[in-house]
Amino acid sequence: MTAAMTTELFRAVDEYIVSTLINEDDVLRQTQIDAKAAGLPAISVSAAQGKLLQLFVQMLAARRVLEVGTLAGYSAIWMARALPADGSLFTIEFDPRHAEVARQNVNRAGLSARVNQCVGDARDILPQLHAENAGPFDLVFIDADKKSTPIYFEWALKLSRPGSIIIVDNVIRSGRVADAASRDADVQGIQEFNRMVGGSGSVSATAIQTVGAKGYDGFALVRVCG
Ligand code: SAH
Ligand code: DHB
Ligand code: MG
Repeated sequence: MTAAMTTELFRAVDEYIVSTLINEDDVLRQTQIDAKAAGLPAISVSAAQGKLLQLFVQMLAARRVLEVGTLAGYSAIWMARALPADGSLFTIEFDPRHAEVARQNVNRAGLSARVNQCVGDARDILPQLHAENAGPFDLVFIDADKKSTPIYFEWALKLSRPGSIIIVDNVIRSGRVADAASRDADVQGIQEFNRMVGGSGSVSATAIQTVGAKGYDGFALVRVCG
């Protein structure tokens, strides 16, 4: 099959999965419509991936979630909906335009009380959260600029406890992660993150390749050990 054919097949099957298994409601759909209308890039997680994040929140019985990279709040809404009434999700975004669109989407979702939006560079906000003892978080979702993933991962560890789960999006990039000669700063960031994880005795991890509406990519799942 050609690349165009596989892309179309991945998209069609994702559509089938969403139509059969996933109750993406009007609030989530409107979140994506408003994100597009505001000119935000179409790089959120897919519906199937958002549902997976929500299932992780439920499986962990997570009460505190941290997200790096809010965009329009689509993944944040999926996760925050699974939190108990006294749970909270902190989400970091450095583009004030993205953060404003997200604020309206989170509001419409009725989740403002549970979602704490931090507007600024995650390289500054993460140390602040640590200084304020905002952690430990049960689940951290890292989904911002890929080249800085090693930095975000280090702070995620500091904001974790034994048993915390750290998920990192976009670690496969159409397979480019396996190219040791890559000059792409984003790919190099993911490779450095993988070296950190692989060389650490205090975490247990895997990476899963995925196909779907967003093409061929994948996520890493890291468990912080005692
Ligand atoms: N998690 C979102 C998608 C995030 S896209 C979802 O699935 O719905 C990545 C976001 O990270 C973008 O909005 C981008 O502006 C933001 N970002 C990039 N670099 C950042 C940084 N250094 N600090 C904070 N946010 C950053
Ligand atoms: C990009 C970023 C993402 O978080 C994603 O899921 C897909 C693509 C990007 O910057 O290209
Ligand atoms: Mg992503």
